[in-house]
Amino acid sequence: MKKILAIYYTQSGQMRDIINSFTQPIIDAGASVEKVEIKMVNSYNFPWTGSSFFGVMPDCVLGVPAAIEPFTLKESEYDLIIIGYQPWFLSPSIPSNSLLNHPDFIKVMQGTPVVTISAARNMWLNAFVRVRKSISDAGGKLVGNIALVDRHSNPISFVTIFYWMLTGKKERYLNIFPKPGVDEQEIEDTAKFGRIIAARLNMPDYWESLQVELVHNEAVNIKYPLMFIEGKAKIIFSVWAKIISKREKKGFWLAAFKYYLFFALFIVAPIALTVDMILVKPFFGDRILAKKNFYLQLN
Ligand SMILES: Cc1cc2nc3c(=O)[nH]c(=O)nc-3n(C[C@H](O)[C@H](O)[C@H](O)COP(=O)(O)O)c2cc1C
Repeated sequence: MKKILAIYYTQSGQMRDIINSFTQPIIDAGASVEKVEIKMVNSYNFPWTGSSFFGVMPDCVLGVPAAIEPFTLKESEYDLIIIGYQPWFLSPSIPSNSLLNHPDFIKVMQGTPVVTISAARNMWLNAFVRVRKSISDAGGKLVGNIALVDRHSNPISFVTIFYWMLTGKKERYLNIFPKPGVDEQEIEDTAKFGRIIAARLNMPDYWESLQVELVHNEAVNIKYPLMFIEGKAKIIFSVWAKIISKREKKGFWLAAFKYYLFFALFIVAPIALTVDMILVKPFFGDRILAKKNFYLQLN
């Protein structure tokens, strides 16, 4: 019997629902699936307040881990590890990063095939690159990646995620906006990725070409405008994080970052994108394709 560990963090329960849908076909196929939800020693209150939300930005971006409540794993070795995580500020969330740096988890990842599944608003590329590196540093073998997102437009999901994060309600804001987060139907449909994995469990070389099949089934979707914005924002976030982490009175700087973020998203990004669409994108097709492949692939 194949032994599979599905380990994840979630605040709202969204990732728990995803892991449940995703792993059900694997359980139905007769594999043993051990699900572990990690908890933090100092938990992040959900819903967030505005200041607690922005307050985690420097540690997220700088990759500062925090203490996880002790967790026990039934096995010392697994045939497959599934990691469910979410990006915070274009970085792995602090709980996910803390897990990836946890000595017990590093040990169990060594030499083990790993599938990652993330559920983001829509900007997950940089977090994925960092998670991919942590897995590789631990000696794990990333064999598949699934990236779920809120499919509404960038400004709309920006508004609705704040409503969700600051009220805890995954509901339609003012009855006008769409529901935030990953669509419920799509959460249910992650079972199709579980079926792909279940079908491969007893094949020889069963992880070969898994990612090709996942991509073919739309497990990962890369949109150029979001890739463009995230590429720039990654560098800018890192500068802000370094500045803020060195300040004694962080409140002022975090507030400045918050206003900067609104300004950058609603004013700067559309202008920069328009300029790029006219002056850059048409002449750099090959480079853009190579970049997309970098995010689609596993190494
Ligand atoms: C502090 C914080 C920062 C976030 N930053 C991002 C981000 O940079 N990109 C993104 O697509 N989603 C971002 N999100 C949304 C999360 O990735 C995730 O979709 C949401 O928090 C639900 O996850 P859950 O399963 O923990 O409830 C952020 C959420 C939080 C709480």
